[in-house]
Amino acid sequence: MARVALVTGGTRGIGASISKTLKAAGFNVAANYGGNDEAAQKFKSETGIPVFKWDVSSFEACEAGIKQVESALGPVDVLVNNAGITRDAMFHRMTLVQWQQVINTNLGSLFNMTRPVWEGMRARKFGRVINISSINGQKGQMGQVNYSAAKAGDLGFTKALAQEGARAGITVNAICPGYINTEMVQAVPKDVLEKSILPLIPVGRLGEPDEIARCVAFLASDDAGFITGSTITANGGQYLA
Ligand code: CAA
Repeated sequence: MARVALVTGGTRGIGASISKTLKAAGFNVAANYGGNDEAAQKFKSETGIPVFKWDVSSFEACEAGIKQVESALGPVDVLVNNAGITRDAMFHRMTLVQWQQVINTNLGSLFNMTRPVWEGMRARKFGRVINISSINGQKGQMGQVNYSAAKAGDLGFTKALAQEGARAGITVNAICPGYINTEMVQAVPKDVLEKSILPLIPVGRLGEPDEIARCVAFLASDDAGFITGSTITANGGQYLA
């Protein structure tokens, strides 16, 4: 039986690439998404991967959504916590709403999504939890106090939960992408991207979503069974953690 993989934010950007790569690797994939119905339907018709809509910042929505996925596909073996948003602003202009939205979506979602699948993984003695953090959780980024705090929190979550899962056959790892060629990075003002970001990437280009998806596929595989609590850094040499 193919293992079931659930990818949050799995219909666009890095998440879409992760969903497709896991499907190609033989997983039975479900892709969650938060709001963009049009993109989700296009993704579904192009890939044949079923899509499920809910807000990962709500615990109740995650419980209900995961129940739907499990009745359609079976228990979740691999959870990829990929969904994330930016609400960039210098701290002196950042609002409480911008802070809360990013913390709840990018960090709160790890609790909301992982808690409902955790007991099942423990009972079955197998699981893979893969959290998509960010270079900016490692190094901090001006204009992203909210995002950097949430993404750094994702790394603490990963390291602590990995210790709890180890004896139960569950690995918990994080990936820290650098600047990847997605809509999120394209939303950065062009002059900031060209003058302040690209020159800092030693390989001289943005990363591609597939370059992150291949890291996820490796961590999800049986080959990665001895790797837990770790962080894979994939940033073109921009920050050497
Ligand atoms: N790196 C270095 N310098 C930066 C910078 C960055 N990422 N972002 C802004 N700056 C600099 C600007 O170049 C500018 O410098 P000068 O005054 O010398 O021109 C200064 O900071 C102020 O910037 P703005 O004039 O743009 O100020 P603003 O208040 O209009 O906007 C901002 C502030 C919203 C933070 C805007 O600059 C911005 O969006 N910056 C990009 C922040 C960023 O890197 N976000 C990452 C998004 S992608 C992502 O998050 C994915 C991931 O995981 C990597």
